[in-house]
Amino acid sequence: MIAKKLVCMTCKKEYDIGPMFDGCPDCRQRGVVSPVEVVYDYNAVKAGLDLSAWLTAPRSIWKYRDLLPLSDPAHAVTLGEGGTPLVQIRTLNEASGLESLYVKNETCNPTWSFKDRQNAVSVSMARELGFKKVTTSTTGNQGVSTAAYAAAAGLECAVFCHPEAPRLQHDLIRFYGARSVSLKDRKQFLSTLVRDYGFFPCTGLTPLPVASPFGIEGYKTISYEIVMQLNGRVPDRIYAPVAGGHGIYGIYKGFRELKALSVVDRIPRMFGCQAEGCNPYVRSFQARQREVTTVKNPSTIALSIRDETGGDCGLRAIYDSDGAALDVSDPEIIRTAGLLARGGVAAEPASVAPVACALQAARAGQIGPRELVVCFVTGTAAKWPEALDRMVKEPIIHNPNFEELKLALWL
Ligand SMILES: Cc1ncc(COP(=O)(O)O)c(C=O)c1O
Ligand SMILES: [Zn+2]
Repeated sequence: MIAKKLVCMTCKKEYDIGPMFDGCPDCRQRGVVSPVEVVYDYNAVKAGLDLSAWLTAPRSIWKYRDLLPLSDPAHAVTLGEGGTPLVQIRTLNEASGLESLYVKNETCNPTWSFKDRQNAVSVSMARELGFKKVTTSTTGNQGVSTAAYAAAAGLECAVFCHPEAPRLQHDLIRFYGARSVSLKDRKQFLSTLVRDYGFFPCTGLTPLPVASPFGIEGYKTISYEIVMQLNGRVPDRIYAPVAGGHGIYGIYKGFRELKALSVVDRIPRMFGCQAEGCNPYVRSFQARQREVTTVKNPSTIALSIRDETGGDCGLRAIYDSDGAALDVSDPEIIRTAGLLARGGVAAEPASVAPVACALQAARAGQIGPRELVVCFVTGTAAKWPEALDRMVKEPIIHNPNFEELKLALWL
């Protein structure tokens, strides 16, 4: 059994793995809110590392179990998450002029977003720690995913949704058997459920006001997968969408661990991507701040990344990897969504942002022609009918006569 513990990201104090949702207790006593993260005995992991098993095991993040926080495999919940395609897209190659531009297509997860990796771990940990109920706050994807994994685990689930979350996603949440609550200020009730009513929070890493360190561990498996898919090569650049910043931090942590295990010898530069109408990371990065600022009244079509502020861990991933925080306009997101779709990938606006940022950088000559670039497409367009309406331009051809059909089909 590999030794695993929780370590404070600020004071480095160590704790046993357990339900620690308010961050580091020691730091809290000093008035500092600091997340804790899971750290492993990497020498022990290295001694037993079998990369061929990573290649051949069936689709599920649990093939990386020595690097995941669960102690009893009987508590593992899976819907076959992970194992998503790493592909080149014709239209992106043409538009970028880059030889090695890849898309990590996370829309192929069980509930069509990368959130499934985080919920596979979070819900499993809820089960291991004896919780019967889970909860989360969401703009859509996270809630759908938590509801599905709670269903798979046989746990009750309450989801607090952003008022603009699509009706379709409320329907999916309820279809999986969870309660769906639409609410502007979601943090208050969520923390009450966690502190007073025995709910486990399937939330991010940063205590705002409660959080779980376990979801990050799911996100990081993306990096393990990419290195295996690239036969051991390391991307030069990663472009990922950023809201809370936990996804990008997880991806960074995955590479950092692979380096600690001597599987890779370097870490990619991490580029955190946002929309111009909601860019707290970009503002903080440009001011060289370590804390993420707040953007009042954010506005963008990309609801999944329309968070006023985010966790400092995402900024840390960017600084420590010599990356940057970037943004793109909504018209550019919509244009790039069309480009991706015409290359065969239907992505939601938030997960188009990294592709648009990479194309912007390629056009500006900032990416060398030989650089290996991976863009994270984290969620599908299929769960966002309203956004899809704004992104699709061609009309449906209704009951045409043949003359009209000829006109429509360029005959
Ligand atoms: C599709 C998609 N991409 C990216 C993100 C941003 O992830 P994070 O909040 O971890 O930065 C989200 C969050 O909801 C999302 O749903
Ligand atoms: Zn601490």
